[in-house]
Amino acid sequence: MELGSWSHLVGRFFEAVRAGRLTDEERREVGTWLEGEDESAVYWEQPVADQRHGLESARRVVAVRPDRGDLVRAALLHDVGKRHAKLGVIGRSLASLFAKLRLPVRGRWRRDLDHGALGAEELASLGSGIVITEFARHHHGRRPATIPVDEWHVLRSADR
Ligand SMILES: [Fe+2]
Ligand SMILES: [Fe+2]
Repeated sequence: MELGSWSHLVGRFFEAVRAGRLTDEERREVGTWLEGEDESAVYWEQPVADQRHGLESARRVVAVRPDRGDLVRAALLHDVGKRHAKLGVIGRSLASLFAKLRLPVRGRWRRDLDHGALGAEELASLGSGIVITEFARHHHGRRPATIPVDEWHVLRSADR
């Protein structure tokens, strides 16, 4: 798993601390993209910071590919696996920090670091499409052959 730069880690920390609940209008905005009750359920089970991060990522996709609802959903749902770790902002940042320092990480911290694979398996079981499950699985790593280069760039630059 690639963890990004130190400034990225610090930026995400403060973003998560500041994240406010989604407004009614933002909730409707999310609802226009998600398909089916199961996808909606996993999205809304996320902590507020991840709901907001998913929405902000999705908006960056909509800005360039409004015609691609599947890419928008991939952005909305890519971090759903994180909610299984049940870690707060500090715990998450420490998990990332430990991984960056290559220290051993177990339990909930491990689940946080494995959130891509956890989310991907869950989304696959809900029947979400290939770009959605594959982006969830690989979004901290390298592009898989299953996601075309242009789509990968759209999604990766939206997840920041
Ligand atoms: Fe992630
Ligand atoms: Fe993300």
